[in-house]
Amino acid sequence: MNLLDEFKLFLKNNTIECESYHPYFQEALNYMLLSGGKHFRAQLLLGTVKALNPSLLENAMRVALAVEMVHTYSLIHDDLPVMDDADLRRGHTTTHVKYDEATALLVGDALNTQAFYEISTSNLDDKIKTKCTQILAYNAGANGMVLGQALDLYFENKRLNLDELKFLHLHKTGALIAASLQLGAVIAGFSDEDSKKLYELGLSLGLVFQIQDDIIDATKSCDEAGKPTHNDEAKNSFTNLLGVEKSKEIKDKLIDEIQTKARENEPKLTDMIENLINRYLKE
Ligand code: IPE
Ligand code: IPE
Ligand code: MG
Ligand code: MG
Ligand code: MG
Repeated sequence: MNLLDEFKLFLKNNTIECESYHPYFQEALNYMLLSGGKHFRAQLLLGTVKALNPSLLENAMRVALAVEMVHTYSLIHDDLPVMDDADLRRGHTTTHVKYDEATALLVGDALNTQAFYEISTSNLDDKIKTKCTQILAYNAGANGMVLGQALDLYFENKRLNLDELKFLHLHKTGALIAASLQLGAVIAGFSDEDSKKLYELGLSLGLVFQIQDDIIDATKSCDEAGKPTHNDEAKNSFTNLLGVEKSKEIKDKLIDEIQTKARENEPKLTDMIENLINRYLKE
């Protein structure tokens, strides 16, 4: 079985249980997690472990699940009316539309905390689990994704310069993608220094990911994207600030740099990164 299918099976077999007399909370909790998505971050984490230390792949699954939970919580909240107000996600009705806003807020809260429960119960050394907790918490929180989201929303309809734009997107999207690569390296037994180098590479990959996401918003249909498109008018997106063609140019340049750096720093990861880029970040 390939890595993506293995992860999807793990996800399906590890849904969150919270039995109670609430008529639908448990269903709502697992609804968006089981609604698809690319699982890009989980694949990056697991692909890194597989390439560097395949004997630890099984033990890494729960950490990949944790990353997917944090990412999914961020999307559920991102789609709320107070944020991007979207009714479609992963080709399905968003959580707050299918259930209600309070439920979507609470599902997000629960996924965010469950992620750290998953890490704590994974079959890894305690020291590695602590490092994983620190990396995920830092990059998802006040100095990572949450900060990026705060900037994204506060600066709607207020134009940022190119450095500010990069700062925003490195936090909003880059941090969690970089963390996924770093987590894979840490689980595989890399030193702090070596895994931090991969984190830097991951930040560039995360920036490419967000440029591609902005290009998708500007150029694809809602059906193709599985979420509303042409929805970023108020945003400091790459395409709004630079146009689609220039965004594509920057993306291609960054991709070349990533591939060169990967070849130099960690040749074992080159194929995995190249496959992810070709599959998700080209067109
Ligand atoms: C969308 O993430 C939000 C961004 C950070 C750009 P993904 O494009 O990874 O969403 P899914 O998980 O595939 O649905
Ligand atoms: C969301 O970015 C990034 C998150 C941290 C959730 P976007 O708002 O661009 O993501 P989409 O386009 O709704 O998937
Ligand atoms: Mg958003
Ligand atoms: Mg959005
Ligand atoms: Mg977007």
